[in-house]
Amino acid sequence: MSIQLGDTAPDFTARSTDGPLQFHTWLGNSWGVLFSHPKDFTPVCTTELGQVAKLKPEFDKRNVKVAGLSVDALEDHEKWSNDILETQGVALNFPLIADDDRTVSNLYGMIHPNADNTLTVRSVFIIGLDKKIKLTLTYPASTGRNFDELLRVIDSLQLTANYKVATPANWKDGEDCIIVPAVSNDEAQALFPKGFTEIKPYLRTTPQPDR
Ligand code: BEZ
Repeated sequence: MSIQLGDTAPDFTARSTDGPLQFHTWLGNSWGVLFSHPKDFTPVCTTELGQVAKLKPEFDKRNVKVAGLSVDALEDHEKWSNDILETQGVALNFPLIADDDRTVSNLYGMIHPNADNTLTVRSVFIIGLDKKIKLTLTYPASTGRNFDELLRVIDSLQLTANYKVATPANWKDGEDCIIVPAVSNDEAQALFPKGFTEIKPYLRTTPQPDR
């Protein structure tokens, strides 16, 4: 059974480039992103890890800890991190988990045998403060992920965790939100002092409430 939204993120202990890591303890009171990449010393993965390292301040700003993972050994991760610095112009600044015994990959269903029997696919899990899975994504090995999109989803998740709103297609931080259908118009007047627009009884928009 694959990991589904609302499940508790499985806890584990693993070796990483930042030392031994007990996942739930490491997360502490932060949101988390756990993402797998197929293999060390590969081109797409190299660019992905460089990109995440560059975006670290953005994850920090949102109280999100990020960890990468592949089924390679810690010694390979350490050698490869020199290449990441050399080619991407940024040092690895988050833990890269060495899952050479595949414990974590199997726990999280990151190996899809019909795609590749041994390597992890490009999985992403976003984990909330309650340690529950808030998002899962699976990309093929040949397509590098869009990490700006992950930040956008985190903005939406953090907003909708605190306010009775959802976010529309292509929403970005600062744009109007949608009032969830369970909120009546009377309730909406109290909850959203900036007002709201009723386009249809089921489609009501309001300025982003935390702005
Ligand atoms: C890459 O990261 O470049 C890659 C990894 C596995 C298969 C194809 C590409």
